[in-house]
Amino acid sequence: MSTESSPRPESALPQDRELVLKVIPMPADTNGNGDIFGGWVMAQVDLAGAVLPARYVRGRMATVAVNQFIFKQPVRVGDILSFFSHVTRVGNTSITVQVEVFAERFSAQGQYVKVTEASLTYVAIDNEGRPRPIPKDGLNIPGLAA
Ligand SMILES: CC(C)(COP(=O)(O)OP(=O)(O)OC[C@H]1O[C@@H](n2cnc3c(N)ncnc32)[C@H](O)[C@@H]1OP(=O)(O)O)[C@@H](O)C(=O)NCCC(=O)NCCS
Repeated sequence: MSTESSPRPESALPQDRELVLKVIPMPADTNGNGDIFGGWVMAQVDLAGAVLPARYVRGRMATVAVNQFIFKQPVRVGDILSFFSHVTRVGNTSITVQVEVFAERFSAQGQYVKVTEASLTYVAIDNEGRPRPIPKDGLNIPGLAA
């Protein structure tokens, strides 16, 4: 079984997704194998996933669900990680996003490998922590059918 999905040049990165985060993992983020700890990747994906919902929720929100999370390839110290996101669903009080993570390997810069993809749902909440409706006035999300 292959251990590396096909590297792609920068021009083949998603053009219809927004780059919401770039980060380089550090040695303190590794597991016992020397690869990056999955929980660290999940935390970054949660932060990255929150970026687009934050733009529409206009106020307090919380992560309610990680619907899917796939670690396709290991992440290594020194990789430059790029997080791309797009909104897949807007509900009454929640917004769901798809996040794709690409690693530019330290040893192969200019080439990108998809290492992770995930789907997360965020809920707009009021001051008491209860769900509240997403403001719909002026809501225009690229690529999402009205
Ligand atoms: C977020 C929270 C306020 C939602 O409360 P709730 O009583 O579950 O609310 P509801 O059942 O009315 O659901 C609210 C929205 O979340 C969605 N939702 C709830 N559970 C879900 C799940 N398991 N998967 C996907 N979406 C879910 C609902 O579909 C609804 O969306 P919609 O209005 O767009 O249709 C509550 O679950 C909470 O406080 N959770 C903890 C959040 C948190 O601390 N996150 C950080 C993790 S450490």
